[in-house]
Amino acid sequence: MAANQSLRQLVPPSLSAKVEGSFAYLTVRDRLPTILTRVIDTIHRNKNKFFEEFGEEGVQAEKRTIGFLSKLRNELLTDKPILVLCDGLEDTDSWNQYLQRQQRLLGEQDPVSWFKSPWLYIECYMYRRIQEAIWLNPPISDFDVFNESKTQSFFESQQAVISLCTYLQGFNRNMDDLSETQLMEQFHKLLQVSLWGNKCDLSISAGMENSQKASPIDSLSDLKSFILVDDSNMVWSALTSAQRPGEDGKTTPGRVDIVLDNAGFELVTDLVLANFLVSSGLAREVRFHGKSIPWFVSDVTAHDFQWTIRQTLAANHKWMSKSGVQWQSYVQEGVWSYHDHPFWTMPHEYCDMAGDAPDLYATLQGADLILFKGDLNYRKLTGDREWDHMVPFDRALRGFGPAPLCSLRTLKANIQVGLQPGQGENLNTQDPSWMTSGKYAVVQFSSPHREQ
Ligand code: F6P
Ligand code: MG
Repeated sequence: MAANQSLRQLVPPSLSAKVEGSFAYLTVRDRLPTILTRVIDTIHRNKNKFFEEFGEEGVQAEKRTIGFLSKLRNELLTDKPILVLCDGLEDTDSWNQYLQRQQRLLGEQDPVSWFKSPWLYIECYMYRRIQEAIWLNPPISDFDVFNESKTQSFFESQQAVISLCTYLQGFNRNMDDLSETQLMEQFHKLLQVSLWGNKCDLSISAGMENSQKASPIDSLSDLKSFILVDDSNMVWSALTSAQRPGEDGKTTPGRVDIVLDNAGFELVTDLVLANFLVSSGLAREVRFHGKSIPWFVSDVTAHDFQWTIRQTLAANHKWMSKSGVQWQSYVQEGVWSYHDHPFWTMPHEYCDMAGDAPDLYATLQGADLILFKGDLNYRKLTGDREWDHMVPFDRALRGFGPAPLCSLRTLKANIQVGLQPGQGENLNTQDPSWMTSGKYAVVQFSSPHREQ
C-alpha cells in the first residue's frame, strides 16, 4: 500500500488548460471553440439535405441540435462546470463515473470545469457532447458532422494516394525476388510513410485543409532527421520473432493490430503498410481498431474505413483500383478486420485499460505487435502528463503492455518522453514549437518484458 502510494506520487500532474499560455490552454481557449463553430456551420449548411430526407422534422432537429451545440460552446467559453451526459447510451454511465472520479481528484470546493480539469478529459468530453447533441435529436442522429472534411481530405491527397498505390503494386509484383535485407528496407520505408501520414490530421488545424500533396516515398530521406526516437529495428525484430513453425512445417507469421488514427491520407498509408505486411508474409492477420463515433475531427470510423476501400477500388487509376480490390478481398477473407470498442472514445489513460476495459485488453493480448497511430494515442499511452523528456517510454506507460507495442506519432501536443540527455533542451533552443508543430516524429517501442 505504502509502496503503491509513493509510486503514485511519482506520477506527474496531467496537462491542463489551467496553466495559462500553455498549449492545452490555447487549445481549449481557441481551437476547440473554432471546431465547435465549424460543426454548427456544417449542420446549418445541411439543412436542405435534412429537409429532403426527413421533411419538417429534419429541419426542427437541425435547429435543436444547433441550440444544444451553441449552449455547449458557451459552457466552454465561460468555463462552466462539466455536466453529466444524459443520452443513456452504452458508455454514458462510464462517462458520468469518470466525472465523479475527476471531482474527487479536484476536491469538493471547485466543480470540474473546462479550464480546471485535465486537458485530455476535457477535449474528449467535447467530442462526446457533440455526439450527444446529435443523438438526442432524431431523425438526424446518424449524421457525421466531420464527414465532409474527411472525404475532402481524401480527395485532396489523390496524387499522393496514387503514387503510394503505384509504389505498392510495383513492389508486390517483385515480392518473390526480394532478399531478407530488401524486405526489411521496404518495411522501414512503409513504416515511415505511415508515421508521416499522421501529419494530416484535421484536429490540429481546427478543421482546415491539411492534406498530403508531395510524393510520400520521395520525401522520406528529407524527413529522416526529424525522427527524434527511432525504434523501428525493434519493431522489425518483434515482427520477425512472431513467426512460428506451423503444423505443416511452414512458418506462420503473427497478428498485427493497428490502432488507427485519422481518415484521409493517413488511413491509406496504414492500409498500404498492412497490405505489405500480409503480402510479404510478415503478418498473417491485421486487425484495425477504429472509433465508434466521429472523433477529433478526422479519426476513422467503420464507415470511413469501408468508404476508403470502396473509393480506392472504384478509382480511375489502374494501380489504385488494384490496391482497393486487394484490400476488399482481405476484408472478405477475414485477413483484415475492423473493430471498434467504446473505450477508444473514452478519456482514460491506457494504463487504466486492464481495469476499465478488460475485454479490450484481453483482445489486444492476442496480438504479436500493436501499432498505435498518432498523437492522441500517444497522449493516452503516456497519460498526457508533465513527464520529464528523459523518462523512459516504458515508465510513462505505467504498466500498460498487452503485447509488444509501438507508437507512430508526429508531435502535436507538448508531451514527449524517452529522449536522450540534452535532446529536449537543444530542441527548445532550435525550434520552440517542436512539440506541437507536427514537424517532428517518434517511433517508440515497448515490449511487456521490458517493463521497469
Ligand atoms: O491539440 C492538437 C490535437 O487536437 C491534440 O489534442 C490531439 O492530440 C491531436 O490534435 C490529434 O492528433 P492525432 O490525430 O494525431 O491524434
Ligand atoms: Mg486524430
